[in-house]
Order: sequence, then C-alpha cells, then structure tokens
Amino acid sequence: MPDAALPTSAPPALTPHLRPFTGETRVTHAVFPGHTNHHGTLFGGEALSLMDSAAFIAATRYCRRKVVTRHLDAMEFRHPIPQGSLVELVARVVRTGRTSMTVLVELFREALYTDERELACTGTFTLVALDDQGQPVAVPALEPRAAGR
Ligand SMILES: CC(C)(COP(=O)(O)OP(=O)(O)OC[C@H]1O[C@@H](n2cnc3c(N)ncnc32)[C@H](O)[C@@H]1OP(=O)(O)O)[C@@H](O)C(=O)NCCC(=O)NCCS
Repeated sequence: MPDAALPTSAPPALTPHLRPFTGETRVTHAVFPGHTNHHGTLFGGEALSLMDSAAFIAATRYCRRKVVTRHLDAMEFRHPIPQGSLVELVARVVRTGRTSMTVLVELFREALYTDERELACTGTFTLVALDDQGQPVAVPALEPRAAGR
C-alpha cells in the first residue's frame, strides 16, 4: 500500500484559479556593507545571486514544481550600485519550452532618499522543472499574451 506521506510524481492540478502565475515577481533588498566589493559597490557575484534567486521564485511560482537553473546568458552590469542603495529585482517568465522556462530578470538601483532609479543589471535565466526523481518534467505552456508577444 502506498505511503500517503510520500510525494507523488503526478503534476500539480491546475484549476482555473490556480493557473500558472504569469505576473512579475518583485523583491527588494538594501545594499549593506557585507554585499559590496572594495570599491564600495555591489559585488557582481552578489547581484548574480539575487537575480538567480528572483528567477527561481518566478519559475517556481509559474510551474509550482522543483526547479533548477540550467543556463544563464545576456548578463549585463550596466551601472555600479553603491552601498546604501536599494535594489529591486523584477523577474518574469517570458518563454516556455517543454520542460524549461526562460526568465528575464531586471535589477533596478534605487536611491534611499531621492526618487532616483535606474536599470542597473539584466540577465536571462533558463530554469528546468524536475519531477520527484530529479528528471525534467513538462511545464504549462505560456500563453503568447502573457509572454508579451
Ligand atoms: C537540469 C538537468 C536535470 C537537465 O538535464 P538535461 O540532461 O540537460 O535535460 P534535457 O537535455 O532534457 O534538457 C532539459 C531542458 O533544458 C534545456 N537546456 C539544456 N541545455 C540548455 C542550455 N545550454 N541552454 C538553455 N536551455 C538548455 C533543454 O532545451 C530542455 O528544455 P525543453 O524541454 O524546454 O526543450 C541537469 O542539467 C542538471 O541537474 N543540471 C544542474 C542544475 C543545477 O545544479 N543548477 C544549479 C543550482 S539550482
């Protein structure tokens, strides 16, 4: 008899009110001294980590599965981000394959005490959904409208 506590490999049911999350994921952080390099600006690896984390949340919300990062490209560090800034990450699924999701992540730098805000970094992450055996598993197809096409 199957153990009721064991996870099932069946895909999660998608009822009309549980359709894939296609909205934006937004996460805000303060840039404290522990996150910076010797120039006093956000360390590139730290920015990458924040962006990967936002991509992970966006992809997980979309498919409600385990996901792992498979590939990243088009990383751009356009502007340095001084210590004491805020960073807001905006991540959204822009494309789906059979088992993969492409997530565009934008990182905005925001001043603490003024309205100054600019797009500082962008990156495109490919994440793959996995079943309970760790194998790639199909994700719901993204509607063209949600992809902005
Ligand atoms: C994710 C993993 C299970 C996929 O295994 P795999 O053998 O590459 O699987 P597949 O060849 O079936 O590819 C799976 C998907 O990734 C896509 N993919 C593979 N290589 C890719 C690449 N270089 N760039 C973009 N997409 C890629 C495939 O096109 C496929 O997507 P699709 O089904 O939408 O067409 C395996 O690569 C893995 O475990 N990687 C390590 C992940 C990890 O540890 N990440 C860091 C921590 S989160």
